[in-house]
Amino acid sequence: MWSQNALTKRLNLNWPILQAPMGDLTTPGLAAAVSDAGGLGGLGMWGFSGEEAERRVAGFRQLSGGSLNVNYPLWDHPSDLTNTAQPMRRALQELYDQEELGEVPTPAGSAGLVSDDHLAMLKKMKPEVVSFHFGLPDQPIIQAIRQIGIFILSSATTVAEAKDLENRGVDAVIAQGIEAGGHRGTYSGVDISMQPGLFALVPQVADAVTIPVIAAGGIADGRTIAAALMLGAQGVQLGTAFLRCEEANVLDKHRDALRHASESSTVVSDVISGRPARFIKNRLVEHLASSQTEPAAFPAQMALTDPLANTGKKQLTALYAGQSAALGRDLSAADLMSKLVEETIASLQALSPATTR
Ligand SMILES: Cc1cc2nc3c(=O)[nH]c(=O)nc-3n(C[C@H](O)[C@H](O)[C@H](O)COP(=O)(O)O)c2cc1C
Repeated sequence: MWSQNALTKRLNLNWPILQAPMGDLTTPGLAAAVSDAGGLGGLGMWGFSGEEAERRVAGFRQLSGGSLNVNYPLWDHPSDLTNTAQPMRRALQELYDQEELGEVPTPAGSAGLVSDDHLAMLKKMKPEVVSFHFGLPDQPIIQAIRQIGIFILSSATTVAEAKDLENRGVDAVIAQGIEAGGHRGTYSGVDISMQPGLFALVPQVADAVTIPVIAAGGIADGRTIAAALMLGAQGVQLGTAFLRCEEANVLDKHRDALRHASESSTVVSDVISGRPARFIKNRLVEHLASSQTEPAAFPAQMALTDPLANTGKKQLTALYAGQSAALGRDLSAADLMSKLVEETIASLQALSPATTR
């Protein structure tokens, strides 16, 4: 049966469908609806204190008895940004002046890590899965999470990253194709232009590792789910497709941009946050890319670009989206899950008569 394998059995899922944890755009209501529908709901923990994170998990537990994935993007504390961010502040001042937003702020550095507070929260709340983006934390943190009995995931954008993550102890690897919306999970410094699409990445990762592979990037309907399973994935993770669910915490202008996106609306750039991510191309991205100015270190660059979103203008807001945004639908998460399952069954059934020859 396509829907049951080692991954779904271990995580107690009816369907091998994961809703990507996308920072504060993901809500307990969204994750609970996905898990109740038999998939794996995900909650981003970026920017939340240990206490807030506990409330998010508790909110999920009140709504759903299903499994939950909580997510931590990881990055180092940058050196002092006072001087290095000056050219970027100057490049942005023109947009700030046009919008009468005053002076571009001076960014402060921060680190993305699993703090003691968060580790205590994980021990107490015991989410079934913890996933990481941009690599993995140090071994003591991995061991501590493993001791709680939590399943560990992280994203790879190349075969080498997938093998490295397996060696460092993940239980399954997310193969993130270049089509994916949001930040590239890459952490090995490989050039963006050399990162493969999902069709090339998934079978080669599946051949290279012994752990289950979850495909992510451009998957948005039953056809793309069936294709990912054919390529050797045991599960799929969808981000952009869930952004249009009513339970997602997504601005109206972002939803509107997703509704009007085409296959060639998006671009990968580091100008919004300081790390490569896929967005719908707009005036903000074009202005900063054409200035050829080095962005401030991730995520401090966001402190410089985020205030432009307060103008309410789509052209000045970070519109994260993958290359399959146009396949998205305005549905509740429960209805989207049912559609995805129905469509996957139909796609697989359409192929099976052809297997005789
Ligand atoms: C708006 C947005 C935010 C994201 N934030 C995160 C995140 O915080 N952590 C993470 O592991 N992945 C994040 N991702 C990436 C997803 O995990 C996944 O790789 C991607 O959504 C798959 O491609 P798709 O958007 O075409 O479905 C994000 C994706 C989007 C679209």
